[in-house]
Amino acid sequence: MAMTVRRPIDGCKAALALGGLLLFGCAPSEKAEVRAELESLHACQELLENGVRPIATDRDARFLGKVAAATAKCRGGDIAAKFRPTPWTDWQNYWATGDAGSRAPDFVRQAGHLTPNDRGVDGALLDLEYERIELIKFNLFDNNKTYQAYVDGRKGVAGPALKVWPEMRLPEGHPEYGDVGGAGEQLCRGELIRHRTLTGICNDIRNPLMGSSGQLFARNVEFSSTFPELGRNELAKNRHGDRLGLLKPDPQVISRMLLTRAQSDPAKCNDGYGLTGFSTDANCDYKKAPFFNVLAAFWIQFMTHDWFTHLEEGHNAEEFMAVGCSQTDAKALNCRPGDRIDKAYVAESSEPATFTHAGVEYAPRAPRTFRNNTTAWWDASQIYGYDERSLKRVKRDPLDAAKLLLVQLPGRSTKGDALGYLPLLAPADPINPDWKGQEATAFADNWSIGMSFYSNLFAREHNLFVSEFRRLAAQTPEADCGLRNPVAPDKVIRYRDVTANELFEAARLVVSAEIAKIHTIEWTTQLLYDEPLYRGMNSNWSGLFGADNGVSTALGQLVTRSFGKTSDVKNATQWYSVFASGAGIFGLGSKVYAEDPIFAAFDPKKKDIWSLSNPDHVNGGVNHFGSPFNFPEEFVTVYRLHALVPDLIEYRELDSDPNRIRNKIPVVETFRGKATDAMRQRGLSNWALSMGRQRLGALALQNHPRFLQNLKMNRLQSETQQIDVAALDLIRDRERGVPRYNEFRRQYGLRQLTSFDDLIDQHFPVGSDERKQQETLVGTLREIYGQHVCDASKIITDAQRNADGSPINDCLGMQNGSTVDNVEDVDTIVGYLAESTRPHGYAISETQFVVFILNASRRLFSDRFLTSSFRPEFYTQLGVDWVNHNGPGPAMMENGRPNGHQQPVSPLKRLLLRTMPELADELQHVVNVFDPWARDRGAYYSLAWKPRPGAESDDAFKIP
Ligand code: HEM
Repeated sequence: MAMTVRRPIDGCKAALALGGLLLFGCAPSEKAEVRAELESLHACQELLENGVRPIATDRDARFLGKVAAATAKCRGGDIAAKFRPTPWTDWQNYWATGDAGSRAPDFVRQAGHLTPNDRGVDGALLDLEYERIELIKFNLFDNNKTYQAYVDGRKGVAGPALKVWPEMRLPEGHPEYGDVGGAGEQLCRGELIRHRTLTGICNDIRNPLMGSSGQLFARNVEFSSTFPELGRNELAKNRHGDRLGLLKPDPQVISRMLLTRAQSDPAKCNDGYGLTGFSTDANCDYKKAPFFNVLAAFWIQFMTHDWFTHLEEGHNAEEFMAVGCSQTDAKALNCRPGDRIDKAYVAESSEPATFTHAGVEYAPRAPRTFRNNTTAWWDASQIYGYDERSLKRVKRDPLDAAKLLLVQLPGRSTKGDALGYLPLLAPADPINPDWKGQEATAFADNWSIGMSFYSNLFAREHNLFVSEFRRLAAQTPEADCGLRNPVAPDKVIRYRDVTANELFEAARLVVSAEIAKIHTIEWTTQLLYDEPLYRGMNSNWSGLFGADNGVSTALGQLVTRSFGKTSDVKNATQWYSVFASGAGIFGLGSKVYAEDPIFAAFDPKKKDIWSLSNPDHVNGGVNHFGSPFNFPEEFVTVYRLHALVPDLIEYRELDSDPNRIRNKIPVVETFRGKATDAMRQRGLSNWALSMGRQRLGALALQNHPRFLQNLKMNRLQSETQQIDVAALDLIRDRERGVPRYNEFRRQYGLRQLTSFDDLIDQHFPVGSDERKQQETLVGTLREIYGQHVCDASKIITDAQRNADGSPINDCLGMQNGSTVDNVEDVDTIVGYLAESTRPHGYAISETQFVVFILNASRRLFSDRFLTSSFRPEFYTQLGVDWVNHNGPGPAMMENGRPNGHQQPVSPLKRLLLRTMPELADELQHVVNVFDPWARDRGAYYSLAWKPRPGAESDDAFKIP
């Protein structure tokens, strides 16, 4: 991980006086450094004179995360200026965006946000906001047949301002067709709008079908850039020649050479299967991220099972296919030509008819489309179900139908254990035979110890919420619980009136919102562990710009200059809501004031007139930016995070010495039903401790778990009955037409690479070990993907242009006829794992991150229950408070000021303390549950791997 190191100026004091700089007690070298910092202030002056950069009007003129020289210098001094020529975004070199070493000395005592550190962090936030605005503007491509309206507009309304689509109506024959209005105008009402529905319909009450199970995955890239392997257009042919295919370059060869974890002692790893008796002598080397733990790895698996799945009940299409390793020289790598996998399901593969707008021909969808077989909403559908079949696996407590069924296990005796464990799938449950012996829950595929962990955890949380509600109901049965029925919106519902089903559904809403909150402000701020992202994610959730600060001022200017004067009022409204994120997306529109909807929110005297009988209030906070919400294929690509998973889990126990690793348990020995056995035998809190303390795998090349490269699965009809999941990830992306890495970056508004050498992190000195390792990997990339003699007459993209405005051609800026790297051919996963230049504390690469900027925001913006319907009428008052305060009772504050912030005790920490009180001592030191629990967080975003006081004897710190 690269670090921007700036030397602090100790003892040297500087002040601005009478327009000049006064220095006290500074050594000559320090004076030079202080003067250099002063120069950056002059650059700020130039930046201000140049004014605010407008939002790009055309796709090929977008921001790219690269700023002008003066801007870089103003926000990050010489270092930011130095790295401008690299392809990577500039903000990562600004002041205070790294650890303590990135902070400039606070020598210029100016008011407000003009100190170097604030210029750096605010500048980073502004760059990110620009990226988001342009991503929303240029990267929405719906496959569900609304794209033509997006381009053409409808009845004088521009496409990006459309809010309702005929394609999002429930079709005739749908069980709720009549309830939403049948052939007339469709509007969800009554029971259908009260809570999250099983299949996800009626989240948007005017677009009932949106986000429901079975809708087509969207795209974030131009349809014409998809399926490059098929060479469907001139640009794709020019870009890749005939070098690509489903198995070309060979995915298993790529896996073995570029993705395999090197082992210092292969026998101790045993291909991820460890040693007998779960001996601690076992060892599988892996590259570790010091600031992110195994709980974080499984958290994201748990999330993806909520958001999307291409598979149906754990399998793909009936036909099986080869997966590479067919060349003789490939076999020397120990890959398996006999492996087979079931082909991906394809929803549509017919040639789409085209349409023309303003003389340009467009395709209305990608050449092939695929279904998302779960709901796209953040609705905890992995727990509660997403269709009738999965619902049968969800068990309610027969003694209190508001609760999920949890059973007591003999021999399990902690306080948390008393809350119970999920029951097993019953023989009558509809399941894939591979899932036998697992806990009963809706999404059962690829069950792991992590899935078991989180499913049990949130089932306990669900029941705790119900218990607390029941306690209040017993105490104040006549009191108004906040809930309302849209059929009789004015009728107060008292605690005693609430049915078990109503309470169950309210608990589901609460659990889903808690999950969304944990993900947004706890998981993501540790995944992207630096100050801009801490502020950015907290602002996404609860607002940042309400206070007077530099970012809000700059955004205000941008709004007035770029949008305020536009003649397209709809567009202005749309962009305005982007800036409403300054007030926080969560809960947006959940209060309605007669006066100005945004600014009235800050006036305590205004009266909230939100009404359940007004559909515009119920639905008023959502914004889909003209494109119905679903995840794009590219989102799945950047979530192929198998490298996070270690091969062996370092198992510990709470009631003996938590510092001691007692077993090394292969993850593969906790796969499917074995996860359930392991959970039940060893207990939830011991797994919490073990996964909480262990570092996860870094998202880097040569870091895929061995066991996943050698995974045995019953469904495979092949001689090996094994699959290399790392290779399969590449194949699936190719089947689904994800553009290759360089075009992927261009499509998302990031700067292209011109050679494999661009992947080497320039922050490391020439000759350093890190640099040498990267040079070796670049050599391997070149060996696999190759080079060719370029032809400057071949234009390869329409997504971007060269700096001089000329089209980008096959030579990528080099002389015609030069030998160039086949950097265009690199699989996107390989490319993003190869990115070693990253912002500080980033467990992911900037290419993955840009996909998140867009889709993580949309996931909130589009969901009524996370915006305008985050109300007691749906959640109950207890539910609203529970989500806002991270549990029952008032918000609790964390001790001290972690990284300079006063902050509430994190939502997941409080949840762990409730569901497993036995973790209290262990969690005392934990600020973010996804930071390894025994790590000393040090000062200001330190990534050091060093024990906190009391954990010095932890075995994990003996391992580098
Ligand atoms: C024990 C751990 C895991 C196992 C055994 C496992 C196994 C698999 C397998 C076999 C597939 C291929 C499905 C197919 O296309 O046929 C898959 C897909 C996938 N996995 Fe994992 N996985 C694990 C952990 C994770 C983690 C930690 C993540 C992190 C996000 C993850 C994300 C994904 C994604 C995004 C897909 C694609 C799903 C889709 O196409 O809908 N997996 N996994």
